Formats: sequence, C-alpha cells, structure tokens
Amino acid sequence: MTLSERDLKHIWHPCARMQDFAKYPPLHILSAKGALLNTPYGEIIDAIGSWWCKPLGHRPEVVISAIQDQLQSFEHVITAQTTNNKMVELGEKLAGLSKLPYTFFSSDGSSAVEVALKLTLHARKIEGYKEKTSFLALNNGYHGETLATLSVSDLGDFKEPYKSHCFTSNYVKVPYTKGMNDASSLNAKREFFAVLPYLETIKPTLNALIFEPIVQGAAGMRTYSVDFLNQLLKWAKNNKIYCIADEIMTGLCRTGNWFATDYLTEKPDIMCIAKGLTAGTLPLSCTLISQELFDIFYFAKQHAPFLHSHTHSGNALAISAALATLNYMETIDLNTKATILQQKLHQAFKQISAQTKALTNIRGIGGIIAGCLSFSDHEHLQRFTNIAQKRGALLRPIGNSLYWFPPINIEEYQLAKLTDITYESIKESLL
Ligand SMILES: Cc1ncc(COP(=O)(O)O)c(C=O)c1O
Repeated sequence: MTLSERDLKHIWHPCARMQDFAKYPPLHILSAKGALLNTPYGEIIDAIGSWWCKPLGHRPEVVISAIQDQLQSFEHVITAQTTNNKMVELGEKLAGLSKLPYTFFSSDGSSAVEVALKLTLHARKIEGYKEKTSFLALNNGYHGETLATLSVSDLGDFKEPYKSHCFTSNYVKVPYTKGMNDASSLNAKREFFAVLPYLETIKPTLNALIFEPIVQGAAGMRTYSVDFLNQLLKWAKNNKIYCIADEIMTGLCRTGNWFATDYLTEKPDIMCIAKGLTAGTLPLSCTLISQELFDIFYFAKQHAPFLHSHTHSGNALAISAALATLNYMETIDLNTKATILQQKLHQAFKQISAQTKALTNIRGIGGIIAGCLSFSDHEHLQRFTNIAQKRGALLRPIGNSLYWFPPINIEEYQLAKLTDITYESIKESLL
C-alpha cells in the first residue's frame, strides 16, 4: 500500500473534501526549509505559508534552537499558578509592541478570539449593562471555526451547517479596495454615512465590534478601506462598544507593520494574534488586553475571576519559540522587508495578469497578494492546484481568489520561479 492509500484509510484532513483525494492524493512531505518543501518528487515552493503562519519560512534556525534550549530545562508546566523568565519576557515584549498591557495565552487563533468574545461579554455583565450582549462584525469576515467564532463570522460554507446553533450577530458592509493607498481606501465618508443609520439602530445592544483589520483572509484576501475602518472604530468607541482586532492573519509584520491596526488612528481594546507568532513552529495564540478591561475584572465589587483555561496555556516551548521569533523579526527588520516585498508581489501578479488575461482584481498589502482567476468551478480549481503542485508550487485558491502568502524573507530566485510556475499553471489549466 502506498503512503497516501494508508493515509486515506485513517486520516480525515482539515478543510478538505475527502473524495477529492481519490484523484489528487495528499502531498508527501519529507522535510521543509525556508520557502521549500522537500517531497519524493522534488522541491515545492510553499506559496501559502502553510495556512499563513510562516513569516520566516520553515524551520528558522533561531527559533528551532530556542525550542531546543527550552527542552533542556522544562517543556511545559501549568501556568495557572507558576511563572518563568521567558513567559514574563514575552508578556513585556507584546505589551511594548501592542500597547496593550495584558496577555492571555491560548493555543490557536479560534481560542484567542473565543477569549476576546467572552471577556467583553463578561466585562459588561460585571458593569451591569444587561442589554449590551450582541456583536457587530464585518460582511465576509472570518474569525475561526468554533461555534462562538463562527457566530461572528460571515462565510456561508463554514457556517451554514451549524447556523441554527450559532448566536446571531450584526454585520456591516465594508467598501473593498485594491490596496491601502487607493483613493477609495483613504476616503470612505460616503460609504460610512450610508451604514450609519443601521449602526445607530442596533447600537444599544452592541457589546463589541470584531474585525480583521484592512484585509479579510478567508474571504479571499480582500482589502478594504482604512478610512472606513477608522470611522467605524471611532463610532464604536464613542458608543461604549469594545473593539476587537483579529490580527491572527495580519499581525506580526505581514502587512509591513507589527500589526495592521498600526495603520489606524483609532486603536483596539483587544487584539488576537496567533499563526506567525511562533514562526509557525508550535501552536500558540494570545489575546492582548487593555488596562481598562483588565481593571473591570480586577476591581469588580463582586468576585469575578475569568475562568477560562487551556491545558497548554503558556506552553513553555511555544513561548520560547515566540520570543525568539519576535526578537529575530526585530533584528532583521522584517517590516521593511514586507514593505519591499509588496512591490515585487504586485509586479509579479500584474505580469501574470497581462500574460494570461485570466487574473483580474489584483489587490494586496505587505506580504499578501491576490487576484481573481477567470475560472471558478471546483473541478477546474482542483486541476489548476494539481498542475501547480506538479510544476513545483503549493497553491490553494480560495474560491477563484488566487493568492500568495510566502515567507517574507523568500529568496529572489524562488519568487521568480513561483511567478513562472503560476503563469504556466494558469496557462495549462486554461487549455
Ligand atoms: C483572521 C482569522 N481569525 C481566526 C482564525 C482561526 O485561527 P485558527 O485556525 O488557528 O483557529 C484564522 C485562521 O485562519 C484567521 O485567519
């Protein structure tokens, strides 16, 4: 029996239609380094950062050696009533970068969002605002796949089967743009005034606004107006509505800034980060929390502990990986690299678009670039993905949105190769 035959007898792969594997079996990975995956059929460029979590590529040496160092002392001890140097150092570092002084650790993005949602609901309860129990989110937003995170998400396929078990949220339409510096991105007064009457109607019940800042990942890497978001945050703050920035995809240098919310004049009360936090080596997520929110629990008249925990909250190996990742990002100035990469990615997609006439609506920010393929049926997209894989690139369009999310330190020759492979694969799949 081949490895993929054995795999398909026992492994249920995430976010996949299992019957598709009969035609296109899972890719066998032998090892990985930087932007490259080593397979029995040769090297393949990981153009999607293994689900958006590889800002430094696979197996960055500084991060791997930090994990190995930590293994020499302890791998994980309950953090409910213990502390250690690295955890405190990471807390200090994140507070400095985000200006949000408190960190709550979880293991994955969805859990970090779940913590944020629960915290804001609980805070309002402590304060006695009985009516402030609902959430405002953005059209086409995505915040994870647990029932609560699906309840504030707006992507049909993910949510539909469980809709009756989700709580109801409110959604506001955002104006999409081609990038952050579009005229439409910088001035969205008209669009904001258009949604204002709706916002005013629902505001008495709103507890918090949750949003993916500037670019919505699972919606197909769609960029939307910075000005609109600023106005929405300003309005929310004026109406005592918490602002939760879901920076799980956008945070930690991906957009050319530590956080995408650094581009805003209005700041969130809570920020969720994960994915690139450990350079994608180990699972770790954080909910970063404002002083004001912390104080509501701390100074509550009645005892109000936040009784949320995960066994691996603050796992020491993951913490060491995160600390090494953040320090290294700072040392090599990864934000500047992401800003430089932005130009190159745009150039590559424009070139592919001109050559194939099958890629339109190009948009992006920092180390993210996307465009719409001229074909959108599932079979065609599967075939395209398989052609690209055979030619040496791991791609995974979202619907007909083709995107790259490479390591920010991807090498020049790898980017040139990825451009050729993407172009050739589109061409071949149009035949
Ligand atoms: C913006 C955003 N929020 C939340 C999540 C959920 O994170 P996780 O898959 O680690 O649970 C994701 C994952 O892609 C995401 O992109």
